[in-house]
Amino acid sequence: MAIIFQNARLINPAQNLDMQGSVRVSLNGMIDSIAFAPETLEAGPDDRVVEMNGKIVASGLFDMHCHFREPGQEYKETLETGSRAAVAGGFTGVALMPNTKPVIDGPLGAAYLRHNARELPIDIEIVSAMTLESRGETLAPFGKLSSYGVKAVSDDGRAVPDSRMMRLVFEYAASFDLLLIQHCEDASLGEGGVMNEGAYSALLGLKGIPEAAETITLSRDLLLMEYLQAHKLNPPVSTPKYHVAHVSTRKALDLVRQAKADGMQVTCEVTPHHFTLTDQDLYEAGEKGNFIMKPPLSSRDNRDAVLEALADGVIDAIATDHAPHARHEKECPPDQAAFGVIGLETSVGLTFSELVHTGRINEYRAIELLSSNPRTIMGLPPVLFEPGQPANFTFIDPEENWTFTESDIRSKGRNSPFLGRTMKGRPLGIYHKGALHGFAQDR
Ligand code: DOR
Ligand code: ZN
Repeated sequence: MAIIFQNARLINPAQNLDMQGSVRVSLNGMIDSIAFAPETLEAGPDDRVVEMNGKIVASGLFDMHCHFREPGQEYKETLETGSRAAVAGGFTGVALMPNTKPVIDGPLGAAYLRHNARELPIDIEIVSAMTLESRGETLAPFGKLSSYGVKAVSDDGRAVPDSRMMRLVFEYAASFDLLLIQHCEDASLGEGGVMNEGAYSALLGLKGIPEAAETITLSRDLLLMEYLQAHKLNPPVSTPKYHVAHVSTRKALDLVRQAKADGMQVTCEVTPHHFTLTDQDLYEAGEKGNFIMKPPLSSRDNRDAVLEALADGVIDAIATDHAPHARHEKECPPDQAAFGVIGLETSVGLTFSELVHTGRINEYRAIELLSSNPRTIMGLPPVLFEPGQPANFTFIDPEENWTFTESDIRSKGRNSPFLGRTMKGRPLGIYHKGALHGFAQDR
C-alpha cells in the first residue's frame, strides 16, 4: 500500500526542479519512486492514487517566524492549535519566536518545547532569546542552547537597545554558528506609537511610529557587523549570520541590498501583510484592530519597495509573523490593541494572488521564498525529491479562487485583516511525517 501523487507539477528549488511528474510514497513516509513526464508510475492493486491534474507538489513550506504562545498564553494559541493553522496553510514546519511567558531563553525552555512538539504533525524549530528574558541586559547561554539544537536567536518584539550588548551577541552567535534574527525597531523612537507616522496617523489622531525606527537599528547592526568583520581580534572566529525579520521600508531594503553587495552574510524576510497592505488600508478599515502590528503597515512607496525587492531577489523569504491574539485584545480602540495578526492560513493565498498572478514572480520563486530559502537560512537540511528520502510535500492549487472566512481559520486567533478577501491560489494540504493532511476531507 502506497500513495501515488499523479500528474503533478513538482517544484523543489533546493534541486532546481520544476517538472511535471508523479511521485510514489511508501507507507513509512519515504519516497519510493519518482517518474518525470512523459514517464508515469504504475499503480499497484493496493495503491491509493491522488490525481493532481497538474497542480503543484512543492517541497514542504517552512515559516521561519511564528508565535504559538506556549508556554504561558495558551488562551491565544497552543502548539496544537498553531500547528493546525500551519497545516491548513500548507506548512510542514515553523520556527517559533521566544516571546512567550516565560521567555524561551535557555535549555529548560528549549527542552520543554521540544518535548511537547514530538507528536505534532509539523516540524518545530526553536528560536531562543538573545538575552535573558529579552531584556537586552544579559546574554542567553548560547553554547548550551546550541547543544540543545537551537539554530537561531532573537529578541523578537524588542531589539537589543545597547550597542555593547549587541556586539557581544554578534561575537557569541558567530562562535556558536547561531543565526541572529533581529526585529529592527528603535524602541525609544516608536514608544507609544500605534501605526506608521504619516498623513494617515495624523488624520486618525493616532501616535505614529517613524520609519526611521527600523533603519536606525538596522544601520547600527550593519555597522557593528562590518566593524567586527574588519577587526577580527580572534581570526578563527566565524563571521555572524544576520537575518532581518519582517522588513517593511524602502530604506531598510536598500541597506540590505548594499550589505549583500558588500558580501555580508545578511538575509531578510517580509510578511504577506506588508507586501499586500498599506497604512491607507488601516485608515479606511472600520474595525482597525486587525491592521495594527509591528512593524506597522507603511506607505504605498514602502509597500512598492517590498514588491520590487521580492522580484529582484533582495528579499530571501516570506514569513508570516503569525501573531494570534484573543478577541478582546483586538476588538477595541486601535491605540489599545495588541500588535500582530495571524498569517498561516493566508500566506499561500496572498503570495499567489499578490505576487504570482500579478506577474511579479513565478511559482518557482514563490516556493523558493516559502520553502527552500527559509530552510537554508535556518540551517536546516534541504528537502529532497529522491527515492529513500522522507516525503515532505505541500500541495497547492494555484488557480483556485476562494474567499477567506472565519471557517478557514484553525488558529485560536481570529485577528486577520484579510477576512472576507478573495484570493487566487490555495494550499490543498501537506504530506509530512508519514501522514497526509488536507485535501477535501479536512476542509
Ligand atoms: O506585531 C507583532 N506581534 N510584531 C512582533 O514583533 C511581535 C508580535 C507578537 O508577538 O504579537
Ligand atoms: Zn518582530
